[in-house]
Amino acid sequence: MNVLGIETSCDETGVALYNTERGLLADALHSQIAMHERYGGVVPELASRDHIQRVLPLTEEVLHKARLKLEDVNAVAYTAGPGLSGALLVGASVATALAFSRNIPAIAVHHLEGHVLSPLLSTDPPEFPFIALLVSGGHTQLFYVASLGSYELLGESIDDAAGEAFDKSAKLLGLGYPGGPAIARAADEFLEMGIKNSSLKLPRPMLHSGDLNMSFSGLKTSVLTAVNKAKNENALDNEKQCLIAHEVQEAITDLLTSKAKAALERTGAKRLVISGGVSANQRLRQKLDLLSQRNRVRIYFPELALCTDNGAMIAFAGAMRLKHETGVTALEGFTVKPRWPLSDLKL
Ligand code: KG4
Ligand code: ZN
Repeated sequence: MNVLGIETSCDETGVALYNTERGLLADALHSQIAMHERYGGVVPELASRDHIQRVLPLTEEVLHKARLKLEDVNAVAYTAGPGLSGALLVGASVATALAFSRNIPAIAVHHLEGHVLSPLLSTDPPEFPFIALLVSGGHTQLFYVASLGSYELLGESIDDAAGEAFDKSAKLLGLGYPGGPAIARAADEFLEMGIKNSSLKLPRPMLHSGDLNMSFSGLKTSVLTAVNKAKNENALDNEKQCLIAHEVQEAITDLLTSKAKAALERTGAKRLVISGGVSANQRLRQKLDLLSQRNRVRIYFPELALCTDNGAMIAFAGAMRLKHETGVTALEGFTVKPRWPLSDLKL
């Protein structure tokens, strides 16, 4: 079975073809980062308009790469939520229209299920059950994943998502958008400076809260205070920016690592899956690798290209669902869910 996957929930148009026997056949992506950069964040109206421009050429591109025709596609999976409603509607409309034209099922996929399952696309996939740490721009959540479609929420950020904390801190520091990679680069630069004793210590809220919840919104206030202090002293130079960025990355990755460890201990699970845009962070990967060595647990990351939004994870999640559900035909109509908790999902 060939499943076409279409992702348009935010600022990336992703299209891919997944074959249930042969795996991922082709994928293509257009990132809107350059377009949103000057606004310091995603502008929803521009995002929708851009998805409209990109989605069909990208579909043509993956069909060409996979040497397939539209007639060879057996189902179309699309991101139905959560995300920006206008952006979601582009993917949902195009996917449903394509499915209608071919009389094949359209499968509504949960964006976060796509992220959680993305490490299963690697050559050494995890088996169920596992703990999933989902860290994206909009979500920071820990789940116990017993099987496909069973996501028990163990804990989550009570305010900003980890990716949002990276993005907001980078904005305050004047490091650009998206903030995660920008902070990571500045943090690396700080290490290259060889400064041993950093005088700055940002808070790690809820580190010892005793539960699996997290909080990141206090971080941006602390960053703002540090930035203002440096500005008042006329000392917000590159070194200071890099120092603060380094500490931001340390604080966020400390919190995530500590809560992931607690989730493993609490459930007795032996496998931890990390996904979402922030799972591309190398410092987080280092800290989790150390956790894995010390605690005899295995950690699974998606391939780097599959950490941030992409069509492959949607095609894959759609293909997994197709084994268990029939999908809907286009004439039954379609909807999108800008807000949609993953724990509501069933098979
Ligand atoms: O999963 P994703 O592509 O989109 C959402 O569904 O939100 O995640 C985007 C987030 C952004 O906040 C971005 O700053 C963050 O992932 N991110 C990173 C890195 N690459 C992307 N954060 C830290 N380090 C990175 N290398
Ligand atoms: Zn995402």
